[in-house]
Amino acid sequence: MDDHVQDQDQVSPEVATEPPPAASMLNRRGFLKLSSVSSAAAVLAACASQTAPKPTVAATAAATAAATAVPTATPVAAVPRPASDLLPYPRIKVAALSDLGSGVFNATYPDIHSQVVLLKLGTKTVGGVGPDQDIVAYSGICTHMGCPTSYDPKTQIFACPCHYSHFDATADAMLINGPATQHLPRISLEVDGQDIYAVGMHGLLYGRPNNLSLTEL
Ligand code: FES
Repeated sequence: MDDHVQDQDQVSPEVATEPPPAASMLNRRGFLKLSSVSSAAAVLAACASQTAPKPTVAATAAATAAATAVPTATPVAAVPRPASDLLPYPRIKVAALSDLGSGVFNATYPDIHSQVVLLKLGTKTVGGVGPDQDIVAYSGICTHMGCPTSYDPKTQIFACPCHYSHFDATADAMLINGPATQHLPRISLEVDGQDIYAVGMHGLLYGRPNNLSLTEL
């Protein structure tokens, strides 16, 4: 019993830590294999570096340009607005030529809430229609704060009673004086036979986001 213990105590540390023979052989083989593969790869890399053609200056420049180029958006064809956005005016008969015997005729356009005044001025004027191109129509609503104006055939001037703006009917209803800043809107007219049709409007009716909307009234 004591001899066995003594034998174990006499085993040197180097012998005790040496791996089993089979494992040791496997590691050596693996090491040799890895060494062989690494060496072969190094040789091939060296050969490749010696035989691969060097990039030309032009190729290098082209590669740099491709890498740094700023991408551009592909042009897209413009999409037309939907027809509903164009707010087409209605074509409405507002008078007959015979209604203008006195030179003045009251109507409404583009709806019954918008008073307009048709005039036969006696001289050709801006936007005039009819045989003498002297028939025009203007909104009767002041562009300052929306008061109804009155028309004087003698002076051919629209006058607003609220804050005294005046508009010249012979000059496209241009503002003469007063706090308003815009002409009276002019209605586009067409003559069809003996009838006069309203087909559009130049200028914005007071208080409306557009002439065909009543949302702000
Ligand atoms: S509303 Fe016509 S001048 Fe003020």
